[in-house]
Amino acid sequence: MSYLEQEIREQPQVLARLLTEEVEKARALAEAMRRRKIQYIMVAARGTSDNAGRYGQYLFGAMNHLPVALAAPSLFSIYGTPPRFGDCLVLGISQSGQSPDIVGVLEEARRQGVMTAAITNEPDSPLGQVGDHVLSLHAGPERSVAATKTYTAEVMAVALINAVLSGDPANLAALSTVPEAAAKTLDLAPEVKRVAERYRFADRLVVLGRGYNFATAFEIALKLKETNYIASEPYSPADFLHGPLAMIDESYPVIFVAPSGAMLPEMRFAMQRVSERGAELLVISDDDAALAAGQLGLRLPAALPEWLTPLVAVLPGQLLALHMALERGDDPDHPRALQKVTLTR
Ligand code: AGP
Repeated sequence: MSYLEQEIREQPQVLARLLTEEVEKARALAEAMRRRKIQYIMVAARGTSDNAGRYGQYLFGAMNHLPVALAAPSLFSIYGTPPRFGDCLVLGISQSGQSPDIVGVLEEARRQGVMTAAITNEPDSPLGQVGDHVLSLHAGPERSVAATKTYTAEVMAVALINAVLSGDPANLAALSTVPEAAAKTLDLAPEVKRVAERYRFADRLVVLGRGYNFATAFEIALKLKETNYIASEPYSPADFLHGPLAMIDESYPVIFVAPSGAMLPEMRFAMQRVSERGAELLVISDDDAALAAGQLGLRLPAALPEWLTPLVAVLPGQLLALHMALERGDDPDHPRALQKVTLTR
């Protein structure tokens, strides 16, 4: 079995472990944020980790009224013109904790006397060393180049910080239901394999998700790009309908990440518009009507609140990346041209 498959399968255990091991550190961070009267968060991250930050952009806003900006690291490292942070928490997210540009954003925050935190699988890494608070992912070594278990662990860490910061015990309780929901979702593997057989020759597709699952669309598209070399483009349907819709025809499959929640009617509306263009729809959802709107459907387990659905909705996308790579005869663990750790400045 490939590392990618093993790591995808490990996710329910990784998520459960993170919840038990890191809740106290999340509480300490939340307490410090309250004490310092943090007004907004700046996230520094790359690739998959940036997608976890994108989830945070919605969750910190929705649950704790905190605006989140995604950092532009070249302002710090190349232009040498770092912005003034003010009453900010600078949050670095990185499985490896290695990339100099991300570490540099936190170093500058420290120079400005601003609070820092790191979410990483390597607490002793350079990033871990510049975090005033460090949440460890407890994911174990990730050997596949494509990140899977560290992504969901990063998303869980962001959800955990938000849950404790909200002060509502119901939010923390909701988190504990995720590992089982993730395990159930992974049972979709045989169905995903059938979808992978069908998409074996696809060379382009679009992934749509909005709100909490905007991040999921980005993450599924990234997994398909790096393991299958497919031009898979992520969009919010709100942006998509403003222009990119025009490129869609019968030859352009569209994946919809559309779990139940406030966003579902918007996703359904976009499904209608995309169907009118003759495209084939693959729908990832727990909702009967949404699933019926697609030619292909992957059913998510019901009952998670919408803010936690990114932790399960991404799993069919990871499985699709794995099985499509296997169908094509590609090595899912070692995509061409890539290394596990990329150092950028
Ligand atoms: C993940 O699938 C990618 N291979 C890559 O984008 C990765 O997420 C990125 O290099 C960031 O790495 P980090 O989390 O170790 O900083």
